[in-house]
Amino acid sequence: MLKLRMGIIGAGRIAQDRHIPAYLQLQEKVEVAAVQDLDQARAEEAAASFNIPHVFYDYRDLFSVVDAVTICTPNKFHAEIAIAAMEAGIHVLCEKPMAITTAECERMLEVSRKNKKVLSVAYHYRYTESAQVAKQAMQEIGDPLVTRIQALRQRKVPGWGVFINKEMQGGGSLIDYGCHFLDLALWLLDGLEPAEVTGTAYNRLSKTPDQINEWGNIDHETFEVDDHVSSYVRFENGASMLFECSWAANIKEDTTHISISGVKGGINVFPFELYQSRQGVLTTTEVMTEDNHKKAAFFQAKNFIESCLGEAELICKPEQTLKVTKLIESIYKSSEIGSSVKLQLGGDES
Ligand SMILES: NC(=O)c1ccc[n+]([C@@H]2O[C@H](COP(=O)([O-])OP(=O)(O)OC[C@H]3O[C@@H](n4cnc5c(N)ncnc54)[C@H](O)[C@@H]3O)[C@@H](O)[C@H]2O)c1
Repeated sequence: MLKLRMGIIGAGRIAQDRHIPAYLQLQEKVEVAAVQDLDQARAEEAAASFNIPHVFYDYRDLFSVVDAVTICTPNKFHAEIAIAAMEAGIHVLCEKPMAITTAECERMLEVSRKNKKVLSVAYHYRYTESAQVAKQAMQEIGDPLVTRIQALRQRKVPGWGVFINKEMQGGGSLIDYGCHFLDLALWLLDGLEPAEVTGTAYNRLSKTPDQINEWGNIDHETFEVDDHVSSYVRFENGASMLFECSWAANIKEDTTHISISGVKGGINVFPFELYQSRQGVLTTTEVMTEDNHKKAAFFQAKNFIESCLGEAELICKPEQTLKVTKLIESIYKSSEIGSSVKLQLGGDES
């Protein structure tokens, strides 16, 4: 195969702002051959803006003219469309989260293995320069002890699409935004298995009338997902993680913090810094990284395409992203039942 023929399923914001522009920068390896959306006008508008030759209204019709698809629909449809595509012999890059439930992710993984199709999830934070440097630096810090995540937005509830609809998305700030940081942490921690999770999800702020929101209008009466979540995760080897994420919270400003303290050193990811004790002094090493999300999307697209063409190893593997969904599901479950949730080694939660 000389060039991969790409289909876009769901032609909304993330498709038009990130994925299609990234593919257009990789035209020697990929052509965007087709687009599909339930909203006919939106699919046609995307086709016209980006010069995409084929437009479809049923995603199954698109499969005959592509080798791979990028799924950019609401979360509810990720598993169904990914499975149908891989059964039809098509590689899949699915927007995050992989799916709403662990059971759906397991089925996606099974179908990918059975049909030998590439399956990846668009956890694009992994492809930022700081995250890539952090991954290399993990060998310097020895055994990881404590991971801290604060993925906090002060007033940024997505006011477009179906983001506050639980049935369509499976949740709010955690499954939509916090998921990126859980993925990043589990990837950096490389195989550490969460053993026990405690979590609490809130939405009282967004259910209060007349809230300020920087990302469009939201209806406090129909708001039914979480806007702020806290969690504590204990790993099987005794390491731990303090996690907090929000779309809306009464805080001074947005914060994007992820750091890991290990036995021999520590890292901060955004911006990257390495903390060590060397020759009797405490040191901080800084690296000149630029964390541009469009650039990260480019490297994500490149790695996915090259994996489909057999030219590169996939960076974001479905076995890993399944574990992110499992952790999210456990945090929600813990919040619902009001106590901790134990996860069995490589198996289901109890
Ligand atoms: N990686 C990131 O940082 C990031 C950022 C935003 C959104 N996302 C993810 O991308 C996905 C879409 O988000 P968005 O912001 O583009 O939303 P959006 O509402 O702008 O676009 C979604 C599109 O999907 C279409 N659609 C709905 N159901 C469909 C179906 N069954 N088949 C085909 N099309 C369907 C809608 O008509 C709409 O055009 C979500 O899964 C979201 O979590 C990821």
